[in-house]
Amino acid sequence: MSTQTSGLAIETSGLVKTFGGTRAVDGVDLAVPSGTVYGLLGPNGAGKTTTVKMLATLLRPDGGEARVFGLDVLHEADEVRGRVSLTGQYASVDEDLTGTENLVLLGRLLGHGKRGARERAARLLAAFGLTDAAAKQVKQYSGGMRRRIDIAASILNTPDLLFLDEPTAGLDPRSRNQVWDIVRAVVAQGTTVLLTTQYLDEADQLAARIAVIDKGRVIAEGTKGELKASVGAGSVHLRLRDAGQRLLAADLLGRVLDARVQPEPDPLALTARLGTAAGEATAAGQAARALDELARAGVVVDNFSLGQPSLDEVFLALTGHGAHDLRDGSEDEVAA
Ligand SMILES: Nc1ncnc2c1ncn2[C@@H]1O[C@H](COP(=O)(O)OP(=O)(O)OP(=O)(O)O)[C@@H](O)[C@H]1O
Ligand SMILES: [Mg+2]
Repeated sequence: MSTQTSGLAIETSGLVKTFGGTRAVDGVDLAVPSGTVYGLLGPNGAGKTTTVKMLATLLRPDGGEARVFGLDVLHEADEVRGRVSLTGQYASVDEDLTGTENLVLLGRLLGHGKRGARERAARLLAAFGLTDAAAKQVKQYSGGMRRRIDIAASILNTPDLLFLDEPTAGLDPRSRNQVWDIVRAVVAQGTTVLLTTQYLDEADQLAARIAVIDKGRVIAEGTKGELKASVGAGSVHLRLRDAGQRLLAADLLGRVLDARVQPEPDPLALTARLGTAAGEATAAGQAARALDELARAGVVVDNFSLGQPSLDEVFLALTGHGAHDLRDGSEDEVAA
């Protein structure tokens, strides 16, 4: 099959979808290698779900081309459907049925025998930590359990390509980690995953390559290393003992780190954005040096943390403006 020759699970060129006057997807080119997690990173309304729906043959493109394992999503839609599965912002499981009932029903629909469907359901529920909840109606599940059963349902028949549309939105850190482990396990079995997310750290955790999408366009693409190199190494957050030392601290950090220093609404807090020159490995070293200098200058630091760049920082670096729906009031530079 042409799929293996190109090694690409997804290939789009100039993909377009318009809704009335809105170009929701505005000329997207993607090349997603097989057997990897590919991250589609962007804020609300960027066009992530619309792109996924076109690739999953649920929406008709208005322009451009899209192939899944070499198959045209428009002209070979049935073949595409046979190889993909989708978990997303829309439901696939029945809230009134139990976890077991849902998975058995879907297994039967996919052509498994009664016994095979039961066995597979039990195995998936166990793998996803849902054995205790197997006999409960899905409407009684927590958000994290719900997300896990959604993914379980979508990999009943191991798909070649799995679309995960914001699989961890709204989950607590523990549930997020469980979903991430599941994604890793799915990929280890050979499935390609197209993951949409609004979180850079999620794309960073899971994806080999990332496309940053904004207003229907890909504004950056590359390995996460390449992306981070263009964005910067992250931020240093400080909380001081004495608000009167904040200007001194800001001045010092600005010099030592060659960073943009911003005040926080909290009068004791400061954020310094590390420059793009600081690689991941050196960010911690730079921060340590800055702490050293602060101590020497007599600035008392009560709390310190080193954070990865946020999506907003990625957008700021790439476009000169923040993610268009992520506004906060702390963008002003420290007035010296
Ligand atoms: N069925 C539709 N009819 C009209 N406009 C739509 C429709 N679906 C999406 N849009 C618009 O297309 C744009 C892209 O929406 P899309 O759902 O693809 O964004 P998204 O990146 O998935 O956002 P989110 O992170 O909020 O899920 C938005 O401006 C949205 O309002
Ligand atoms: Mg969406």
